[in-house]
Order: sequence, then structure tokens, then C-alpha cells
Amino acid sequence: MRMWSTIWPVLISCLLLISLNALGEESGYCSTLTEHTKDLSNNNLTRIPSHLSNSIEYFDVSHNNIASIVHGDLSGLTHLCFLKVTHCGLQYISLDAFSSNSEIKILNISYNQLTVIPNLHLPQLRMLDLSSNPYPSYALPGSFGNLSYLSILAIGSKDASSVNVDDFVPLQNISLKKLIFGDGTELQNYENGSFSQLKSLWGVVLKVTFCQHFDIFSNMIMDFDQTQTKKIQLVKLFPDQCTIRTDPFMAFKDLRVLSNLSIVDTWINSSVMVKLFKNIWKSSFEETVFLNITYNEDTPDGFQLPKQNHTTNLRAFVLDGVHHHQYHYPTFNVSMELVNKLTYLKFSGTGMNILPCNLISAIKSLQLLDLSDNLLDESGFWWFGCSSHKVFPALRKLSLSHNRFNDLAEIAKNVNDMKFLESLDLSFNSISIDKPCFWPPHLIELSLSHNNLGNDIFRYLSPYFQKIDLSKTGISVIPLNISSLFPRLTYLFLSFNSIQVIPVDLRALMLLSLHIDQNAVTFISQKSMEGFPKLRTLKAGYNPFSCDCDSFWFLTAFNKSLLSDWPQDYTCSTPPSFSGMRFEMYEHSWLSCQPGLQAAVVLLVLFVVGTALAITVYSCDGIWYTKMLWVWMRMKRRGYKRADRLLNATFRYHAFISYSQHDSVWVGSQLVPELERSGLSLCVHERDFEPGMWIVDNIIHCVEHSYKSLFILSKHFVQSEWCNYELFFAQHRAISVNDDSLVFVLLEPIPPDSLPKKFLKLRTLLRRKTYLEWPADERKQRVFWCNLKAILQTVDQSKILKDVATDIAEMCPLVPVKE
Ligand SMILES: *[C@@H]1O[C@H](CO)[C@@H](O)[C@H](O)[C@H]1NC(C)=O
Ligand SMILES: *[C@@H]1O[C@H](CO)[C@@H](O)[C@H](O)[C@H]1NC(C)=O
Ligand SMILES: *[C@@H]1O[C@H](CO)[C@@H](O)[C@H](O)[C@H]1NC(C)=O
Ligand SMILES: *[C@@H]1O[C@H](CO)[C@@H](O)[C@H](O)[C@H]1NC(C)=O
Ligand SMILES: *[C@@H]1O[C@H](CO)[C@@H](O)[C@H](O)[C@H]1NC(C)=O
Ligand SMILES: *[C@@H]1O[C@H](CO)[C@@H](O)[C@H](O)[C@H]1NC(C)=O
Ligand SMILES: *[C@@H]1O[C@H](CO)[C@@H](O)[C@H](O)[C@H]1NC(C)=O
Ligand SMILES: *[C@@H]1O[C@H](CO)[C@@H](O)[C@H](O)[C@H]1NC(C)=O
Ligand SMILES: *[C@@H]1O[C@H](CO)[C@@H](O)[C@H](O)[C@H]1NC(C)=O
Ligand SMILES: *[C@@H]1O[C@H](CO)[C@@H](O)[C@H](O)[C@H]1NC(C)=O
Ligand SMILES: *[C@@H]1O[C@H](CO)[C@@H](O)[C@H](O)[C@H]1NC(C)=O
Ligand SMILES: *[C@@H]1O[C@H](CO)[C@@H](O)[C@H](O)[C@H]1NC(C)=O
Repeated sequence: MRMWSTIWPVLISCLLLISLNALGEESGYCSTLTEHTKDLSNNNLTRIPSHLSNSIEYFDVSHNNIASIVHGDLSGLTHLCFLKVTHCGLQYISLDAFSSNSEIKILNISYNQLTVIPNLHLPQLRMLDLSSNPYPSYALPGSFGNLSYLSILAIGSKDASSVNVDDFVPLQNISLKKLIFGDGTELQNYENGSFSQLKSLWGVVLKVTFCQHFDIFSNMIMDFDQTQTKKIQLVKLFPDQCTIRTDPFMAFKDLRVLSNLSIVDTWINSSVMVKLFKNIWKSSFEETVFLNITYNEDTPDGFQLPKQNHTTNLRAFVLDGVHHHQYHYPTFNVSMELVNKLTYLKFSGTGMNILPCNLISAIKSLQLLDLSDNLLDESGFWWFGCSSHKVFPALRKLSLSHNRFNDLAEIAKNVNDMKFLESLDLSFNSISIDKPCFWPPHLIELSLSHNNLGNDIFRYLSPYFQKIDLSKTGISVIPLNISSLFPRLTYLFLSFNSIQVIPVDLRALMLLSLHIDQNAVTFISQKSMEGFPKLRTLKAGYNPFSCDCDSFWFLTAFNKSLLSDWPQDYTCSTPPSFSGMRFEMYEHSWLSCQPGLQAAVVLLVLFVVGTALAITVYSCDGIWYTKMLWVWMRMKRRGYKRADRLLNATFRYHAFISYSQHDSVWVGSQLVPELERSGLSLCVHERDFEPGMWIVDNIIHCVEHSYKSLFILSKHFVQSEWCNYELFFAQHRAISVNDDSLVFVLLEPIPPDSLPKKFLKLRTLLRRKTYLEWPADERKQRVFWCNLKAILQTVDQSKILKDVATDIAEMCPLVPVKE
């Protein structure tokens, strides 16, 4: 038969992928850590390889050609917990095949060629899938009575057409929770009481089709109602070709326990749908779900459910994935007056482009409406045929995700009519913003994720919003005044944008949760987090973090228990040498990131070094050496400065030496020999004075013919000799204080203040410390001599004293003229 896959009116097939993962293959019984996992599926294996590591806990050899599992095949895998051998053509499992694998908790041997349900001695088994094997009967071996922990059993064979009470007796005392029964074929025979002995069942998936034997369907349903089963899923309930004359759902009205019904992957005609609803109306069902159905109107007026004379228990109704067999609008005529418990309604993947508003918006109890994944836009949702008052009188949450809405202002205006609406989901639409939006104060949650909006969006939102989702909306900047824009904001989701910076000067935002993962944030600073004093969860993974000092605070001080995605989603991006490295692995000399600590350490180091140096200097007379060096350097410098000016002058002596009689021994035995040995010519006081001449004339003579004048200062010298020089200097103001031609050697300490006040010049000179001290230490004496010679030899080329002296005197008014 040719099938039209059409939609509400538009010719676009609308296929929803329905995840039937309810079986929960990976549901936590076994470790799936990669080091304990071995996947050999699709390997053309003809038998299970030997020499497998015995650390394997999770082993998948599905989609191979393994005809049998016998003793020894799995003997090495003593820790095996999960074993999957599906689609292998498996025909035989020996009695002792799993004798070494008593730890197995999950065994999946579905889709094979087993003609006998194998005996299994697996005391730990929790989940067993035997479905889609050609065993001719459902008679379970007695050993199943020892599977004390078995919780989920999937069993089904195309070759088994009857169910007998004895078949499931071994499971009588086992607390099986979930049964997945059947292999998509019809049953010929069902013995009453077969399933009702599985007392602890709470969920059933029935993969059995019915066309003729609806009595079997009823008996089975009634049996499940004897257990604790609340939820029943009917997969491919009717075959595609089937004319249904009776009422298949008559049993529903007598149910007590069953409350959740879902019908999956099934062709349903409107005539059957009406029968179904008439029965559901009277039944205990609270929830009815249709997943992936093909709907066909075989009644001329479509779906007509006239006014019933009592209310229904339905609280939730889901229609997810509808293929419309016909190319026209389906017709509904349902009286919603007596629907007073329905709170949740989902019409998804139906191709709807016009809301059946008089049907849906009239439901007084409706709180949650999910119209995601349809073809709705503003004009289809609020179309002119709808009455605009008393719409959705109790609606709190509305999802319009994955539709074709585009005008935010229009939507904002219209939701003002939904007086209790708190939450609106507009994700995955084509929303644009151009007009101001006037939001009602009761709307506090809005999702606009996956719309192309840009940074302006913040101006179009409501100050009442507490939860805003702006993931993947093209935002690059968080506004600085966000806390005044949204004073009540507690959840802000900004994933998948291009935000580079979390602002630092946000005024405290009352956020509890912030998602800023998959952006362009390079670091998270303490200052920016101060903007979120109440934060409880932060998601910031998949950002290009820079692994340097900027990240120091985040890595060391930030409370990682706030991060829902730490550490797996955090990697370094820059610097290139760390690119791709796990953020938490990044180690660094964090010292360099703490200026305070750094300064303290530097100070400490300086202090230690300084102290060490001071001790060294002190114990080795470093101070003295330093002083000598200082004097020497000054002399050198000045010498160079004047070198050119002193050119061409001629002197008879390098130095004139003046000293006291008391110091003549030192001068005669040390000074003069030392200096003359180095080739200096000296005019020595007394020795070279011309007899008969006045002492001052002698001095003048010597001074004028010497390049330098060297005074050997001692207390005696000051007392006995200096007065001559004071007089001399006073008369010849030629030589100033600054003049380098005067060199003083201190034989003993002479405090400047101990000098008579009249020796003005000497006091000045000594205060300026421009002298050399004679050291007692022999090692130091060598330095002394070097220094002294250097001073005396500086600018040895001589000079014309008078010219220079005049210059200098003018520059130095310090020397008083003695009256
Ligand atoms: C067993 O494997 C099949 C094939 O992969 C899968 O469809 C089924 O859900 C698995 N059974 C259980 C109980 O997980
Ligand atoms: C398995 O065998 C088929 C044909 O025999 C070949 O095409 C396929 O590549 C093989 N697969 C592996 C994983 O060796
Ligand atoms: C169940 O286990 C007990 C103890 O291991 C054993 O004696 C008994 O034979 C087993 N029953 C069956 C049916 O295998
Ligand atoms: C289950 O337990 C009942 C009562 O304890 C007992 O009579 C019955 O034989 C047991 N069934 C099996 C299969 O062990
Ligand atoms: C099975 O039970 C139903 C009621 O639960 C009853 O109507 C029907 O006759 C029974 N069938 C047999 C074969 O006992
Ligand atoms: C639905 O109705 C068509 C006729 O419109 C019929 O051919 C088909 O067998 C019916 N299918 C079911 C499952 O009721
Ligand atoms: C939907 O149901 C049809 C049968 O009605 C089935 O062939 C198809 O695989 C189902 N699609 C999904 C996604 O489950
Ligand atoms: C809807 O059903 C009522 C009776 O329950 C009937 O009076 C009315 O005409 C029907 N409307 C349509 C459009 O079929
Ligand atoms: C209510 O409907 C049931 C059948 O659906 C009928 O037996 C009963 O008489 C009706 N009661 C009233 C008051 O209409
Ligand atoms: C059954 O349906 C109710 C109402 O929708 C729901 O709250 C509950 O979770 C469902 N139970 C199961 C087991 O799915
Ligand atoms: C926030 O800042 C934007 C511009 O940055 C400005 O247009 C807006 O008026 C400000 N809002 C408030 C409440 O301060
Ligand atoms: C980190 O946050 C958690 C949860 O908010 C809290 O329990 C814990 O005390 C915090 N740890 C530190 C060190 O602040």
C-alpha cells in the first residue's frame, strides 16, 4: 500500500526520532571506564578471541559470526560484568559457558539464532535480553529461579505463539521489575494468569501486535493490572493492514493499577482512536502517550468525541511524532468541558501550523503546554479564528521551541493575555528584534536560545525575568548594567556565544546559576566573580583559557564544587606551549603571579643578601675600602675633566709634602720612599725648604712649583703647622676648597669639630671628607699607596696654576678672606 507521509497541511514530512532508550543498556550496573572496556563488535570474528585481559568488565562482541559460546571461551574474563553478543548468529551456549564469569550483571544475547532458552547460572544477573531469537516457546528453564537479582528481562521470539502459566513459574519469587515481551508478532494463545504471577512488575513493554485476538490483549492487560505495573508501552500494537471491527480497548475501563499508557510505532485510524479515547475516558489512565504514530482518518467526520457524561482521569497527554496518512487537516470535535484534570499537553512533531485553539486553549486545568517542533508562527498560534479572551486560563509553562516564530514584540504583546504564564520557551526559532517589547510581570522565565539576536537583545527583555536563556544567540558582550536591567535574575544561560570578558564592575547580581561555557572567555577573575556573590553553579567549560597568571585565582582559589563541568571541559588554549592541556594539570610558578608575595620575597632576599654583605663588609673593613674607592673615583673623574685645561703646564715637583715634625719618622721611612720609588718627585717640607727663607715664602715657592700639595694631617700638624697655611691661603686666595691640587692624608682621626674655629678652611675640608686615611692594616696600606699615587699622578701633565687657580677661586666663595 502506498503511504502518504504528509503533515498537517503542509507537504513536509515531519519525522521525529524517538529515543526508546528506556531499556537502559548502560544503566550503571557496570563500569564503562575505557580501561575496563573492550569493544570487538563488527570484527568478522568467528569465535571469542582468547588471551583477553582479565581486567575487562565491559565486553562487546556484537555483530560478528560467533555460532557458539562454550566453556573456556570466556574463562579469562573473571571480572566480566557486561557482555553483549547480539547479531552474531549465536546458536548454542553450553551449560558451563559462563562458569568463570559469575560477576556478569548484564547479558545481552538478543538478535541471534538460539532455539533454546539457555540455562544461566549467573547469580549476579540484573538484566537479561533474550529477545529476537527463534526459540519455539517461552518456557523458562528452572535455573531462572536462581537469578535472584534479575530486574529486567527482555524475551521474544517470532516462533513462539503461545504463553502458558508454567512458562514464567521460575520467576514467581523473583522481584522482576520490568518485562519486555514479544517480537512483533501476534500470539495465538495466552493462558490467564501467566503474567499476573510476576507480582513485582512495575513496567511492561509489549511488542506484540493484535488484529484478531483482542481477547488475548484484554486478558494480558488484565493480568498486568494484577501486578504493580503502572506503565505499559504497546509497540506496534496493530499491524498496518488490519480491519478492526470490535472494540480492542474494552478492558481499559476495568483497570485499577495501570495508569500510564504509551502507544509506539503504530498505525492508528480515527475510528480506532475514538474507541480508544472512549475507553481511556472511563479508565484509570492518567497519562497517554503516542510516539511515532501514523494517523489516518477513516471516519467521514474525523475524530468525533461527543460530550461524555463523566470526567476523565487524564492528567497528561502526549503526541510526539505524527505522520498524517492523508493530505488534509485532521478534524477534531472533542468536548473539553469535562477535562478537568489535564495539566500537561504535548503536541510535538505533528506538522501543526495552526493551533486548534478552541480545543486546547479552553482546557481549564492546563498548566504545561509543549508545542515544540511544529510549524507554528505568530499568525498560526494567535490566528483570527481564536477567541482572544479566556485563553489558557491556567497555563504556566509554554514551549514553542523549534517552530517558526519571528516577532518578539508580537509574542510579548500576546502573552499578556495568558494571565498565569511564567515560563516561555522560544528556542530554535527565527526570532528577530526591532520593536520594543512589553512583557507581562508574571512572565519570569524566557528562553531565546538558538536565535540570531545579537547584543541588543538585553534591551528587549523584561526586568521581571528571573531566568534567561540566551545560549547561541550571537552575544559578544554582557552589559555592565545587567544588574539594574534584571534585578531579580537568578539563572542566566549564555552558553555558545562569543563573549570574551565577564565584566568586573558588575553591581552584585543575585545569580544562582551562570552558564558561560563555549564562549571566548580567556580567564575568570576574582573581581568578575564578585559580581555574583550568591552563585551556586557555574558552567564555563570549552572556553579558550589562557594558562598564565590571569588564571591564577580561578585555578587556585575558586571553589570548584560550583562547577558542574570541572575538570573535563577545561583546557588551556594559550600560550601555545600549553594548548590543549587539561586546565587542572597546569602547574606554574604561581609565585610570579602574586605581586604582594613577590615583593615580600624580594625584600626578604634583599634583606638576607644585605645582611650577609653587611656582615662580610664589616668583618673585612669593607667600609674603609669603599671609602678609598670613592675618593679615588672622584679624583679620577675630576682629573679627566680638567686634563685638557691643564695641558702644557710645567712643574718641578709632583707634590709638595707638608707635615709636622712629630710625623717625620713616618714621612721619612714610609711616605717619601714609597712615592719616590714610583718615580714621583717631591718637595718635602724641611728637606727641600731653602734655608734662610721665611717659612711662608718657602711654602709658596714649593706650592707654586708642585702639581699637588700633600698635607699629612695629625693633631700635631694642625696645632703646629696649619696656621701657616691658613695664612697662606688667606693671602693667596688662589687655591680654593674645590681645588684638587690639595691632598690630605689623615694619620689619625681628627674630628672637624675639635679644630679651632679659626681654621675655617681645614674644617670645611675635613667635613667634606676629601682625604685619605692611613690604615694600620698592612693589606689596606697597599691600597692606600695605590690610591695616593693615583691621586698624585692624576693629570700629571701639569698646568698653569695661576689660570686655573683664578677660575677656581671665582667659583668658590667658600673660602673667607682673613682680615
Ligand atoms: C540488547 O542489544 C540490542 C541490540 O543492540 C538493543 O537494541 C537492546 O536494547 C539491548 N537490550 C538491553 C536490555 O539493553
Ligand atoms: C568483514 O568481512 C567483510 C566481507 O567478508 C569485509 O567487507 C569487511 O571489511 C570485514 N570487516 C572487518 C572489520 O574485517
Ligand atoms: C539453584 O541453586 C541452588 C544452589 O546453588 C542449586 O542447588 C539448585 O540446583 C539451583 N536450581 C536450579 C534449578 O538450577
Ligand atoms: C515461590 O515461593 C512460594 C512460597 O514461598 C513457593 O511455594 C513456590 O514454590 C516458590 N516458587 C518457586 C519457583 O520457587
Ligand atoms: C481469562 O480471564 C478473563 C477475565 O480476566 C475471563 O473473561 C476469561 O474467560 C478467562 N479466560 C480463560 C480461558 O479462562
Ligand atoms: C485503517 O483504515 C484503512 C482504511 O481507511 C484500512 O485499510 C486499514 O486496514 C486500517 N488500519 C488499521 C490499523 O485500523
Ligand atoms: C515509526 O514507526 C514506524 C512504524 O509505524 C517504523 O517503521 C519506524 O521505524 C518508526 N520510526 C522511528 C523513528 O522509530
Ligand atoms: C461536534 O459534535 C457535536 C456533538 O457532540 C455536534 O453537535 C457538532 O455539530 C460537531 N461539530 C462538528 C464541527 O463536527
Ligand atoms: C453515561 O454513559 C454510560 C455509557 O457510556 C451510560 O451507561 C449511562 O447511562 C450514561 N449516564 C447518563 C446519566 O447519561
Ligand atoms: C505516569 O504519568 C504521570 C502523569 O503524567 C506521571 O507523573 C508519572 O511520572 C508517570 N509514571 C511513569 C512511571 O512514567
Ligand atoms: C543600560 O545600558 C544601556 C546602554 O549600555 C542603556 O541603553 C540602558 O538604558 C541602561 N539601562 C539601565 C536600566 O540602566
Ligand atoms: C564550596 O561550595 C560548596 C557548595 O556550595 C560548599 O558546600 C563548600 O563549603 C564550599 N567550599 C569552600 C572551600 O568554600
